[in-house]
Amino acid sequence: MTGIVGLGSYVPEIVVTNADLEKILDTSDEWIKTRTGILERRFASKDQATSDLAVIAAERALKDANVSADEIDLIIVGTNSPDTLYPATACLVQDKIGARNAAAFDLQAGCTGWVYAATVGAQCIESGMYKHVLVIGAEVITRMMDNTDRGTYVLFGDGAGAAVLSSVSRGGFLASELYADGSLAQHLVFPAGGTRKPFSEEVLRERAYFTKMDGSDVFKFSVREISRVSMKVLEKAQLPLDRVDWFIPHQANLRIIQAGAQKLGIPMEKVVVTIDKYGNSSSASIPVALDEVYRKGVLKNGDTVLMVSFGAGMTSGGILMEWWR
Ligand code: ACO
Repeated sequence: MTGIVGLGSYVPEIVVTNADLEKILDTSDEWIKTRTGILERRFASKDQATSDLAVIAAERALKDANVSADEIDLIIVGTNSPDTLYPATACLVQDKIGARNAAAFDLQAGCTGWVYAATVGAQCIESGMYKHVLVIGAEVITRMMDNTDRGTYVLFGDGAGAAVLSSVSRGGFLASELYADGSLAQHLVFPAGGTRKPFSEEVLRERAYFTKMDGSDVFKFSVREISRVSMKVLEKAQLPLDRVDWFIPHQANLRIIQAGAQKLGIPMEKVVVTIDKYGNSSSASIPVALDEVYRKGVLKNGDTVLMVSFGAGMTSGGILMEWWR
């Protein structure tokens, strides 16, 4: 079986509160708190790009795993906010951490990026191709948001989480599922900079170099997918829902998390919530939340952890794992 043998995360030091956002947008602490559950979020400093956050999380995960950088065979960075369109941010991470023997690529699957990356990474181990795979979710997603659009700007935060995957004799990944529905792609788009809409004066005029989102469509999709994907993963592992000790959903909106948990019948005591402190850090949200419960020492050997995400694409996916360190 493949499992997580090391975890690490990093959130930037700059804290942006709802009160800070009240100064630049027609919004209020009350609206943000009650509609999203977010109290504050982290912003990368001007000199930090996504690879810088990823490197810190990766080095922490390697230390935790007691695996050296040159033992890593593959690095996958799940991100929607790469340093550049190319080269891949994973290649920059490979160089910065000194993983001389690793292949490296980025995986873009909306906020489901880390769940996709961990699933693909685990398959590379299961197939016998690789021994140690570093899977990172890293974002400076706030830089892709329009600070004049109150419907998106208040929701997001920056961060990175990393896991070292290896073969394990106890516990590990029990099942995972990945989904995509491109017919819903238009609900969450970063329009400019690709081949459909290369940078131009029109792009600048339309502010198309920022994320555009239909919030309520994404909301409905997310609530539906949290419960559907959770049941699919449990079915695959042939485990009943009440065997889940920790539920770690993507942190996009507290109301989405609560509605998903309620639909499934999972009590909130089992649900990991970090959105109040970090907002939606996209691909980083699940590995950061997992690392937080791990560091708190509340994850016990043998605990069953269900991680479920959804995002641009629209994508969704889940991993069920038995924790063992
Ligand atoms: N402050 C104050 N008012 C606001 C704000 C704000 N920050 N944002 C929107 N409003 C207003 C709207 O303009 C609207 O006003 P109107 O009635 O005068 O038109 C009103 O609040 C209600 O707007 P809704 O969009 O209906 O508000 P809703 O309760 O749906 O909350 C939200 C909006 C928070 C965006 C919600 O729909 C949501 O969380 N959607 C999911 C978003 C998400 O998870 N995105 C990430 C997906 S993952 C990824 O891959 C990136």
